[in-house]
Amino acid sequence: MGELRLVCKGRHNETADVITFQFDVEEGVLGAHRPGQAFTLQLPCPGGPEYRTFTIASDPGSEIEITVKNQGGATRWMHEFLHPGTSVRALGPVGNFSIAHHFAPKYALISGGSGATPMMSMLRWLAKRGETVDVVYIHASRTPADILFELELKKLDCEMSNLRLAYIPTTVPLGQSWTGYSGHIDRKLMSLIVPDLASRETFCCGPAGFMDAVEKIFVAEGGNPNSFHTEDFGPPRTAQAEVVPTEALNIIASSDAIQLTFENKEIIAKRGDLLLDAVKKAGMIIPTGCTQGVCGTCRVKVTAGDVKMNAQGGISAKEEREGYRLACCSRLIEDVVVKKATFL
Ligand SMILES: Cc1cc2nc3c(=O)[nH]c(=O)nc-3n(C[C@H](O)[C@H](O)[C@H](O)COP(=O)(O)OP(=O)(O)OC[C@H]3O[C@@H](n4cnc5c(N)ncnc54)[C@H](O)[C@@H]3O)c2cc1C
Ligand code: FES
Repeated sequence: MGELRLVCKGRHNETADVITFQFDVEEGVLGAHRPGQAFTLQLPCPGGPEYRTFTIASDPGSEIEITVKNQGGATRWMHEFLHPGTSVRALGPVGNFSIAHHFAPKYALISGGSGATPMMSMLRWLAKRGETVDVVYIHASRTPADILFELELKKLDCEMSNLRLAYIPTTVPLGQSWTGYSGHIDRKLMSLIVPDLASRETFCCGPAGFMDAVEKIFVAEGGNPNSFHTEDFGPPRTAQAEVVPTEALNIIASSDAIQLTFENKEIIAKRGDLLLDAVKKAGMIIPTGCTQGVCGTCRVKVTAGDVKMNAQGGISAKEEREGYRLACCSRLIEDVVVKKATFL
């Protein structure tokens, strides 16, 4: 994982609320990365820097591209103010959501909305390598007009002999023409599109309810849960922001009390609390991107004691050996001394 400065060199609209941004690297090196990995951008929003994680939608080795849906927060700032010439800082690449970790004879890639970005990175990578592996790509969108990357997928369909595409708009508004499948994805529809789903290594990314529904179908069809991989785009989990008065902390049973020292400030916290929450409750801030252990933004350094971390690809084994931990997915288990890590 490295720190970079990127400069926007182009942008174009994909749909009414999705824009693709291209970047050049101004400083640093985006190390070798796998298709499906992401990086975190530090966005200079008016209220102070905001950290958001985005899949590197381009295939590794090509010009860096991200494709961003306007969700109304920092992504709205990007749509309005991130134009050619604007520089942003970045940290990455991060994440484990990649077919490069799970070689298989047959894949199903299933996306809802902006969850299409890691699938595009993987498909672009397979096409560039001239792979003939059997892939079914299913993309669910709100309407036919919201289907992402449709033109490019048509081209990939011609290039990749074993690629099969299926689009499922939830609704078809008056005035938009559509002749294919539509509605919510269910077991019947899925078995029409991909009857051998259970035997495919399956990657799914989209809204939480969508991923849950697809996973249930996959398991009901007899799929091995270890062959079902998901990436959750959010929304971010927010820590409790209120400062807990010291007197209130006296009620914590002594066996449950943990002494957390963060940036030389002593905090009494509770065994099992998330490190991020404990620091936030004490009125201090650790910047976060994903809050799921994926993006690495909340990296801190433990200098005494330890925490129990459950990371999802946001930290390397080397960084772990050096004492770095991710505050958003680390629970307090013993007295511990923690410092901010320098990044972004
Ligand atoms: C590993 C990873 C990769 C990601 N890749 C992409 C990508 O390629 N393209 C992309 O557009 N986004 C991607 N995201 C999501 C992105 O990081 C932001 O969380 C999201 O775009 C919302 O940002 P915001 O600042 O506009 O919204 P916020 O200010 O965080 O939230 C604004 C509003 O939107 C809601 N909201 C936030 N996120 C979501 C969501 N994902 N789904 C539904 N509602 C939401 C919130 O509840 C809130 O009401 C990725 C996230 C992760 C963790
Ligand atoms: S905020 Fe992304 S890893 Fe912690």
